[in-house]
Amino acid sequence: MNNLKEKILKLKKEKNVVILAHYYQEEAIQDVADYVGDSLGLSQVAAKADADIILFAGVHFMAETAKILNPTKKVILPDLKAGCSLADSCPPDLFKKFIDAHPDHVVITYVNCSAEIKALSHLVCTSSNAVKIVESVPQNIPIIFAPDKNLGKYIIEQTGRDMLLWDGACIVHEAFSIDKLLTLHKKNPDAEIIAHPESETHILKTASYVGSTAGMINYVQESKSNKFIVATEAGILYKMQQQVPDKILIPAPSHEDNTCACSECAFMKMNTLQKLYDCLVTESPEITIPAHIQAKALLPINRMLQLS
Ligand code: 13P
Ligand code: SF4
Repeated sequence: MNNLKEKILKLKKEKNVVILAHYYQEEAIQDVADYVGDSLGLSQVAAKADADIILFAGVHFMAETAKILNPTKKVILPDLKAGCSLADSCPPDLFKKFIDAHPDHVVITYVNCSAEIKALSHLVCTSSNAVKIVESVPQNIPIIFAPDKNLGKYIIEQTGRDMLLWDGACIVHEAFSIDKLLTLHKKNPDAEIIAHPESETHILKTASYVGSTAGMINYVQESKSNKFIVATEAGILYKMQQQVPDKILIPAPSHEDNTCACSECAFMKMNTLQKLYDCLVTESPEITIPAHIQAKALLPINRMLQLS
């Protein structure tokens, strides 16, 4: 493993590659990354990257966003099959019909969607700026929000805006069990529950903080509490624990029995250190996006970055 890490670091330098990793990546991948962050932070870094190659250790829509923002760079992803249940829930042909049926609506899409869907949108948002982006739209203009219905419901609750929601969800965040969570909290009454807004409403109602992965890491650092129950993908615990080595972090329980790895995103975990190395050697698989989609998808992402 160390040998592989060393080989990656050497090759990365020789080929002038920047490695960007999401918090849900396995620990060894986070260790070799130049930057580890949430969707918004990763997009901001990708937009400004001046390396020859961006190796994106995350899922497909994240690597696509990097390519849209920095199209002259070669963007590579260790496993092209690393998708996302939210992106999969929103096929462009069906979404186009949906928005055509509501032509007076502004279309806001969560960044967890394909480049084609972004190209059909007026604004993109991430979990860290979703409320702000929705609030940037004048009150009298109706909004379509896609693809995450749970994040959509959370924004409606926060802003009082009545949005038309697409029926998509994250399979990882929908797997948390409210009964098991409440039992765990009873056993640990001194713990604060913190949650990602892709979780269902009943989970979010128990949380003292709701936010993006980066937001959750900031929160545990700033809070006076010493114990947290963390309702998001388990990969976050690695960086979070490094930031608060003396605090206790408990992963939120999912529906299945304790042998299940439901709080792990199977898509994120398709990337391995070996695949990352192979991808550096072959400079593939490469992300490519048709020029007309790239140009259209850039507009709503840039609007988001300007508002963030
Ligand atoms: P963040 O933007 O909070 O990192 O979320 C990304 C994601 O895919 C959550 O499931
Ligand atoms: Fe998609 Fe959920 Fe995995 Fe995030 S955790 S990449 S939303 S499936």
